[in-house]
Parts: sequence; C-alpha cells; structure tokens
Amino acid sequence: MDQTTGHRIVASLRGATKRYMSGDTEIVALHPTDVEIHNKELTLILGPSGSGKTTLLSLLGCVIYPTAGEVWIGDTSISKLSPKKLAQVRLHNIGFVFQSMNLIAPLTACENVMMPLQLMGLSSREARKRALSALEMVGMLDRQRFKPKQMSGGQQQRVAIARALVTNPPMMLCDEPTAALDAQSLVVVMNELRNLSDQGKAVAVVTHDPRLKPYADRIITVENGQVSQIEENLERPKTIQIDDKH
Ligand SMILES: Nc1ncnc2c1ncn2[C@@H]1O[C@H](COP(=O)(O)OP(=O)(O)OP(=O)(O)O)[C@@H](O)[C@H]1O
Ligand SMILES: [Mg+2]
Repeated sequence: MDQTTGHRIVASLRGATKRYMSGDTEIVALHPTDVEIHNKELTLILGPSGSGKTTLLSLLGCVIYPTAGEVWIGDTSISKLSPKKLAQVRLHNIGFVFQSMNLIAPLTACENVMMPLQLMGLSSREARKRALSALEMVGMLDRQRFKPKQMSGGQQQRVAIARALVTNPPMMLCDEPTAALDAQSLVVVMNELRNLSDQGKAVAVVTHDPRLKPYADRIITVENGQVSQIEENLERPKTIQIDDKH
C-alpha cells in the first residue's frame, strides 16, 4: 500500500502466459506478462482484435488458469487453487462483465442481478433488495421485470454491469462494455465505471476504441499477444465528450 495515495495492488500478473493447442499448432494468446491493477483506478486495456485483451482480462478475472507464471489476487496466488476455491475467490473479489454479457435468457433483469448474491447464500429477500439498488445505480430500475431479449444491447450491458457490482467486489473487469453503444450511452456507462473507480474500486476495461482513453488513469496497450506499452494518464479531464463520428 502506498501510504500517501492509499493505492494498493488488487490483482497482478507475474510472468503470466497463456498458450492453446489447436491440433498440432500452439497458439500463444498471451506472452509472459507483468501487469498490476490498482484500486481507485480505471485501467484501460487497449488493442486490436485478436491481440490478447480478453485473455489478459480472463487471467486477471481468474476465469482461466495461466499456462505458466502467476496470477495474484491481493496476496493470494491462484495457480495452485482448486477450481472450487477459485470460484470462491471470483465470487468475493471480482465482478466480471463478459464480452457476450452472458445474461441468463429466461430470467428477468432483477433475477439476473440477484444470481451472484444467491450463490453467496443470501436470502431471496435480501438479494432482491440489493439487486434493485444495483439496477438503480445503472438507471435500469424500470426494466427490472424485463427479460434480456426485451432489452436493447445497451440496456443488457447495464444489467450485466449491475450484476457485476451487486456483490460490491474490490475489482470490476469489463470486456468491451461499450461495443454496442451509441455515443450517449457510452458516456453513461463509462461515467458509471469511472464513479466506481473514484469510490475506490479497481476497474479494468477492455476496448479497441481509443475514444475511451480520456476516462483512464492507466492505459495498457496489447499487440500480438504482448503488452507493448503501459502509460499513465496524468491529465485525466473532469468532463469528457465523445465525438459520435467514429
Ligand atoms: N480457447 C482458445 N483456444 C485457442 N485459441 C484461443 C482461445 N482463446 C483465444 N485464442 C486465441 O488467442 C488470441 C487472443 O484472443 P483474445 O480473445 O484474447 O483476443 P482479443 O484481443 O480479446 O480479441 P477481440 O477484440 O476480437 O475480442 C487469438 O488469436 C485467439 O484466436
Ligand atoms: Mg476479446
């Protein structure tokens, strides 16, 4: 912990790498990588399609194990944890917004957001109360009874964000949360994520959209399965405008 700023490392990769076998060919999705994710910061992970962004985020989110190297969540190294223990680490420490959102089709917005709390063993009554307050945070209270297919892409995205933040995890990881959004909804979603980091959470956002750069405190650029640059954005402006001509 840095005593003056209160910044601490919430998650890190230490020489972590991910390789896949496809028939006889080995694909290196991510070469050995060192990165740190800090609380109170919004970290942007930027790079072209296929560069390894989702792989990097999935390692940080303990969705996959590294092929070699280490992934740390706080002061726990996850490589030797069983899948069951890892699921517990995920449930208590990480809110993940997947690229495909993964909302459960037959469940309403509210029921989707209640899911992680029910996995934690909360009563339905308590889970519902907290789910509704998470939906309120993302401006989706009026859609609580809607099923995913009755909502627009941007609305589903906001429900997915509510589901990720309902457990109040120290770290939020979002994979392309703005890909389906128009400029105005993009500003809403990014400002929500920025508020969460201002309130103390570690927030990491994967994108191929350089327009999101002004929201970031730190920018990790990924190219060809390799982190090519880590830069700090020292002049993060207070208000951000997004030009819709993309
Ligand atoms: N399960 C897998 N099996 C084999 N190869 C994989 C697997 N997952 C990812 N890869 C490969 O690893 C590389 C990086 O994939 P990744 O999903 O991390 O890219 P990305 O930067 O998130 O791309 P996009 O912007 O299109 O989502 C790609 O070449 C991909 O084909
Ligand atoms: Mg991806």
